[in-house]
Amino acid sequence: MKGRDHSEMTHSLEVMISARRIRDRVKVLTQELNRDFQGRDVVVVALLKGTVVFLADLIRGIEFPMRLDFMGVSSYGSKTQSGKLIVTQDLRMDVRDRHVLLVDDILDTGRTLHAVQRRLRRLQPASLRTCVLLDKPERREKQVPVEYVGFRIPNRFVVGYGLDWDEHYRNLPHIGVVKTAA
Ligand code: PRP
Repeated sequence: MKGRDHSEMTHSLEVMISARRIRDRVKVLTQELNRDFQGRDVVVVALLKGTVVFLADLIRGIEFPMRLDFMGVSSYGSKTQSGKLIVTQDLRMDVRDRHVLLVDDILDTGRTLHAVQRRLRRLQPASLRTCVLLDKPERREKQVPVEYVGFRIPNRFVVGYGLDWDEHYRNLPHIGVVKTAA
């Protein structure tokens, strides 16, 4: 439904993952990160902009030294036939010889993370690990290594907790499913 104005379509939202479940799961993810990155100096690289709500909750539980940087990528670019990633905002920090934790909101076809991981590896980080809140395995086209996954979900159109439909609903505290009239 990307690209279609949400106000033109009769729709309703149902809760798929409650705010409480998200909070509990994010806490566990943060504990895993604290265990795995203990004693390391880490650069967290977050993809704009659906990741911002998840990111804000995730990093507040982090106890290892970390710095934060952002990359902007266009899914329109990554979903063209060429599969070429269009970078709308590049990293500002030098990640060479640094431990990088890549954070994104959702792993769908895998094209975005496949391309971003390849781009980051070329910068020769000491290590590269990836954390996503949501994984839709049914949609996968590109296999990408992801070490931390919040929730595996079915192939439904989801919004909230940072994820949008036509830029709306990013502010919802839960993950909702969009239901449209037939
Ligand atoms: C979404 C999401 C991922 C990507 C996943 O970004 O944030 O980065 O798509 O899709 P893929 O696995 O099929 O490549 P989107 O382009 O919607 O931008 P946004 O984060 O600004 O909402």
